Amino acid sequence: MHTHHVYDSLLDATIRHLEDLKQRGVKNVVVSPKTMEGLNVSGRARPAKTAPKRGPAAPRSVESRVDKPAPPLSAPKETSTRQTQLVGLPPEPPAAPAVSPLSPEVKAAAFEDLRRRVLQCLKCAHLASSRKTVVFGVGDINAQLMFVGEAPGAEEDEQGEPFVGRAGQLLTRIIETMGLSRQSVYITNVLKCRPDTPGQTAGNRKPTAQEMQICIPYLHEQIDLIRPKVIVALGATAVEGLLGKTAGITKLRGHWQIYRGIPLMPTYHPAYLLRNQSLSEKRKVWEDMLQVMERLGLTPSQKQRSYFIKGANP
Ligand code: URA
Ligand code: URA
Repeated sequence: MHTHHVYDSLLDATIRHLEDLKQRGVKNVVVSPKTMEGLNVSGRARPAKTAPKRGPAAPRSVESRVDKPAPPLSAPKETSTRQTQLVGLPPEPPAAPAVSPLSPEVKAAAFEDLRRRVLQCLKCAHLASSRKTVVFGVGDINAQLMFVGEAPGAEEDEQGEPFVGRAGQLLTRIIETMGLSRQSVYITNVLKCRPDTPGQTAGNRKPTAQEMQICIPYLHEQIDLIRPKVIVALGATAVEGLLGKTAGITKLRGHWQIYRGIPLMPTYHPAYLLRNQSLSEKRKVWEDMLQVMERLGLTPSQKQRSYFIKGANP
């Protein structure tokens, strides 16, 4: 039923908001008696079928969240399981990625609402004033595969679309070599605005920890709505943003991680491949993409398997 989906969607947004506050160290929220009354009226337990997998201790209604201002939210727990998942998925995949509980129409509407909010975001005043566009994301919101990069560069800022510059063109080739297209996957970044480079006319800089912390809830919302089967994290910043890991992309790449129940493959950023043109580095990224294809049930052809092996290609 429509109203239930809307309710669930709003409840998800509320829970996300509370989790974000909690992450920023907020221990209590003030709720007016009137709001509390309203929450009690609609604060029914979620049907188990549509409840997102947020860990066994996740409270089931706004009511119970607000009653206990500082319950152990699932975030710290997830972080601790993540730390142990360095060597691949357990044999039984954990919690099958939940099917999005939203109907296609409500999902599309929620996504548009999110886009609207992101496009007018002013939370980082310095970026809001330096940017030409906000780079929200591109592709299919029902995609099974999602690519997450670092932040828009100059070209992306100009066009309002992620991964359209040199690194982006390489990413597009990688996607097409997998037999997919930009339109059939979803592509976005940890940061939706180009990191400003005051006093410089060219070049990029890494997002600061503060910028990432401010912007990452938007990415979380995108992922929660899309619910892809697999996420590819491109480079160290994407891994750090999504998993909170700073272990180093050279160690993590090629090893399945888990982001909120969704298999996540860390790999090198295409910009790194542009700087390091060696066949062996290209092959590493390609092997990661072969793992992704298999995880999606796309069996790579013999030709696809042999790309970037010395002497294997014409
Ligand atoms: N690099 C990124 O990380 N993202 C883009 O969108 C473009 C380049
Ligand atoms: N080194 C980097 O800095 N980034 C990558 O994506 C890969 C290696």
